[in-house]
Amino acid sequence: MATDSNQSPVIEGQLNARERELLSSAILNAPNPPKVALEVGTWLGGGSTLHILRALEKNGCGHLWGIEADRSTYDRMIANLKAGAPESLHRFTPLFGFSEKVIPQWLAEQPPGFAVDFAFLDGGNNPREQVAELRLIDNLVPVGGQVMAHDAKYRKAKWLVPYISRLDNWQTRLYDVSNEGLLYAKKIASQPSPASLRAARRSLLKSRLQPVELAAAILPSSFCGLVCRMVPSKLFFWLYAGAKTDVEAGGGSQSNA
Ligand SMILES: C[S@@+](CC[C@H](N)C(=O)[O-])C[C@H]1O[C@@H](n2cnc3c(N)ncnc32)[C@H](O)[C@@H]1O
Repeated sequence: MATDSNQSPVIEGQLNARERELLSSAILNAPNPPKVALEVGTWLGGGSTLHILRALEKNGCGHLWGIEADRSTYDRMIANLKAGAPESLHRFTPLFGFSEKVIPQWLAEQPPGFAVDFAFLDGGNNPREQVAELRLIDNLVPVGGQVMAHDAKYRKAKWLVPYISRLDNWQTRLYDVSNEGLLYAKKIASQPSPASLRAARRSLLKSRLQPVELAAAILPSSFCGLVCRMVPSKLFFWLYAGAKTDVEAGGGSQSNA
């Protein structure tokens, strides 16, 4: 078994080294160190989860709630972190299930005045989800709070990026450091102006009404599956993930070493 410099087992995880660094530095350099961090899509634990936990540990404060929807991945992620990063576990609460169900339940259990200081959205590929996740927590993110989202250039973030970019109480930037892209957003005012909120809602409606999204929402998944199997894989990837082919950079799976 591969081990890191502390002789702990290396945990498998996604995000490239630069993305991991950006995630960590958002937490380490926040003027008010995050107390509450939320993550959607832990996968096996060695990517975003481990790096958020290590940054919180360095800050000496904060707790991460990490949501994972796949049962066997969830079980492996917990076992991985227990074996590979036991020192971080006191800062971590795993939550099993789909974000849109888990987040409202989680929030309902929190005390009045609860705030979400940092969130990393990296769950499913349906673009509806990242926007839904942001909207569930938006009112609880304080000014100075940060939200990051992976796959900002892919289908996963196709609704979120134009939506949040139009809200003038969020300052956003796209880190072009991987094929997937990393969105960074910092809240700069508690509420958006009415005009920017209208523009954001219009952009969301436009995204929802795109023919490919309407087809995905209306057609049975068995039919979509059949179509996907019939089209060449490169075309499928372009249609489904919306990947740009002109950007050179490495993302994908990595170890946490
Ligand atoms: C791209 S991987 C996450 C990679 C991880 N952040 C890392 O850095 O290694 C996406 C993960 O999200 C999970 N997932 C998909 N849809 C989800 C949802 N709606 N809620 C929570 N987890 C979800 C998948 O099971 C998968 O493990």
